[in-house]
Amino acid sequence: MKRVAVIGGDGIGPEVIGEALKVIEIACTKFGNKIELKPYPWGAEHYLTTGVTLPPGGLDEMRTYDAIFLGAMGDPRIPDMRHGADILLGMRFGLDLYVNKRPVKLMDARLTPLKGKTEKDIDFVVLRENTEGLYVSMGGIFKKNTPDELAVQEDINTRKGVERIIRYAFELAKTRGAHSVVMSDKSNVLTYGHDLWQRVFKLVAKEYPSIEPGHFYVDALVMQMVKKPEQFEVIVTCNMFGDIVSDLGAQIQGGLGLAASGNINPAGVSLFEPVHGSAPKYAGKNVANPLGAILTAAMMLDHIGYGPAGKAIDDAVTAVVRSGRGPQELGGDLSTTATGDAVVAALKRLV
Ligand code: IPM
Ligand code: MN
Repeated sequence: MKRVAVIGGDGIGPEVIGEALKVIEIACTKFGNKIELKPYPWGAEHYLTTGVTLPPGGLDEMRTYDAIFLGAMGDPRIPDMRHGADILLGMRFGLDLYVNKRPVKLMDARLTPLKGKTEKDIDFVVLRENTEGLYVSMGGIFKKNTPDELAVQEDINTRKGVERIIRYAFELAKTRGAHSVVMSDKSNVLTYGHDLWQRVFKLVAKEYPSIEPGHFYVDALVMQMVKKPEQFEVIVTCNMFGDIVSDLGAQIQGGLGLAASGNINPAGVSLFEPVHGSAPKYAGKNVANPLGAILTAAMMLDHIGYGPAGKAIDDAVTAVVRSGRGPQELGGDLSTTATGDAVVAALKRLV
């Protein structure tokens, strides 16, 4: 029996997660995989009514699960995203989810905005460092709201943090049968923090002689992702750049609504969430695209040892996308729930 904590969250989060849960239940039943899905109310509404973001003891409770499945965080009533920072970043840091794995895979050539590129050209993984960098919220503001105001935001790069994500990239390349790992930084300007990335990358690469190490400064990387995406298999980068690069990646594979991600601690519990946000203006309208959440569910099942069920979900989503009858975001006419139903139907046909 595997146990999963489910946090629907804000905006379209609960709707897309609802569809993913439908699909998980069917897939697990088909493959005889036992799973318990336990809902948690954490999010904007819960915060506004109780004043609690991440409850005391919440992280320890999460540690008892095999995985965490999260929809999205973000609500216009909480402009500073205090709850999102506490819950999402709180779990990334508190559970040491140091790998943010964001696959970029084009399922149907018609979905990419890149002219002439097809399924075989866009299939790589972005690995984003997920516990350090500019995200640690170290710094401060001096003389706030005066003409002499000064703001400092520190960029933290530790030897341990940089080494473990780079090593993960090479290990993933090995298991994927990839020939190369590209590291992206801005070491020509960030001459301390990203000098560390350079040095560690070269050292770790030596341990993997069969995998070719590559490098692009991040400005050149985004250009190359548009120009020649077929050269990439595994990209590894820092937290801030990974955030940006993975949105570009999502768009070239057909949009944010199709992008899946895992926040992984290889030695502990991991958290899975679609890359898209809470999209408040589409909330409650049954129009959001649930496929990113469903693909994220597939990734999660694979991670907890239910690989064949995950693979079947992936194949079912591919079948729906290729049928052309998808959600509105992909040019189809299906509602959120109808898209979920279409995946369930495809799944039943496939297994
Ligand atoms: C993401 C999001 C988050 C991030 C926000 C919501 C804090 O954009 O998961 O990519 O910047 O990491
Ligand atoms: Mn982002």
